[in-house]
Amino acid sequence: MAEPRVRIFDTTLRDGEQSPGVSLNLGEKLEIARQLQRLGVDIIEAGFPIASAGERAAVAAIAAEVRGPVICGLARTRRGDIDAAVEALRGAERPRVHTFTSGSRVHLEHMLHLTEEEALAQAVDAVRYARGFVADVEFSAQDVARADPDFLVRLYGAAVAAGATTVNVPDTVGYSIPREFAEIVRFIRTEVEKVNPDVVVSVHTHDDLGLAVANALAGVEAGARQVECAVNGIGERAGNCSLEEVAMALVTRADLYGLRIGVRTAELYRTSQLVSKLTGMPVQPNKAIVGANAFAHEAGIHQDGVLKERTTYEIIQPRDVGVPETRLVLGKHSGRHALRERLAALGYQLGEAEFQRAFERFKELADRKRGIADADLAAIVQAEAVATAPEVCRLDYFQVTSGNTTVPTATVRVTCAGAEPAQESAVGDGPVDAVYRAMDRAIGQEFRLLDYALRAVTGDKDALGEVTVRLADPDGRTATAVGASTDVIEASARAYLAAVNKLLGMQAGGPRVPAAALPEGRV
Ligand code: KIV
Ligand code: ZN
Repeated sequence: MAEPRVRIFDTTLRDGEQSPGVSLNLGEKLEIARQLQRLGVDIIEAGFPIASAGERAAVAAIAAEVRGPVICGLARTRRGDIDAAVEALRGAERPRVHTFTSGSRVHLEHMLHLTEEEALAQAVDAVRYARGFVADVEFSAQDVARADPDFLVRLYGAAVAAGATTVNVPDTVGYSIPREFAEIVRFIRTEVEKVNPDVVVSVHTHDDLGLAVANALAGVEAGARQVECAVNGIGERAGNCSLEEVAMALVTRADLYGLRIGVRTAELYRTSQLVSKLTGMPVQPNKAIVGANAFAHEAGIHQDGVLKERTTYEIIQPRDVGVPETRLVLGKHSGRHALRERLAALGYQLGEAEFQRAFERFKELADRKRGIADADLAAIVQAEAVATAPEVCRLDYFQVTSGNTTVPTATVRVTCAGAEPAQESAVGDGPVDAVYRAMDRAIGQEFRLLDYALRAVTGDKDALGEVTVRLADPDGRTATAVGASTDVIEASARAYLAAVNKLLGMQAGGPRVPAAALPEGRV
């Protein structure tokens, strides 16, 4: 009998990081893992250790530091992959090895060049081998929705007999529909429970048809007790099942599902914001649960209803998922104590150095802006106070001339560790371009701007502008960073320098989590 609790298995750092253009460094991965721990997920899939030295270092750092959730490392059904995962997970309190093959003929024939029997034998060997190191082993067969059910039953049954404690059912290409996926899950579950009644059945769904959450929930109805998902639904192609959506569906409709989850839903919004900032992937405004419009009521009838009684049009309250509701809380006369209290209420526990940076930025902002909303505080804390890279170079000042009748020109002064301050000027296509060119000259390297996005944090005219950039250094390393200011040129400069600092840290020998360095491409 399936238990009344669903485990939330977060794969933001593994499958989520496979989103096109996303590449997180070690500090950023750790930052997200710490937040996932605060969120209360049951399992963190921290990476694919065989992929690169940087990936191994990131998994090892998370395994050594993060306590509470199970820390999982991915491995193909190869002993070398499993050795790499076991090694990276050595510091974990509760390590899990997740080994996977493929279930469908199209994958086996064209990608793995294996017969079904060979894939089955490798799976059994991998699970047995992994069980020699860890007690917690998960097994997956990619692309179940297009696989022969009889083969799947043999494959999963053999993996469970070999010692797999969780069997995961992935719809790798997002092909299934809820009714069909539920049938597959029910079929596999019935058979594997004959081998070991305690085995946990898991679902892992992709969003190619926009059905990832619906399919995962259908799997839960069919007895799955683990859901694999990623924050903001990020991931390969159209993405993975969205963590916040599946969690809030299970909580909001507990009357139907009758199942518990361990997620602290009030941490969902903060987690979503952090992942969006560090990956550089914006959250679409109409995204369920965490989008900017998720709790906005525009139509007159709706506004009237909500003002009279919130539940007329709101099935979830913003505070249930941690969306800041207070507006204009602090101003230029507010002191350290008030800021510390407000940040604590928003869930930010900052160390002394981080708090000092946040306070300085708050004071600068308060001089320029009349009221500081919670969203402004969250933007400055997440963009800059919680630094994920040491400050190698500092922007001392910048000056820009621009207009519709002048050539945009910028002068900047940058001081880098161990060097004299460098002042440089440049012209550009626009003021931001001019600042970036001048900064490259002052730093002595040319960085390539891969992505640039600007958004207003609040709706006012004096709103804080938040800029996200993704840069590449001359060797092709990439980094994403955010800068915030009421002056969008300054926000652009801050974001640029924060990304440059990450790249300089990587160049100095810091471990690097690569964009596409898997031996056979990404999973
Ligand atoms: O989508 C998929 O099949 C995967 C597996 C590695 C579980 O990500
Ligand atoms: Zn996947």
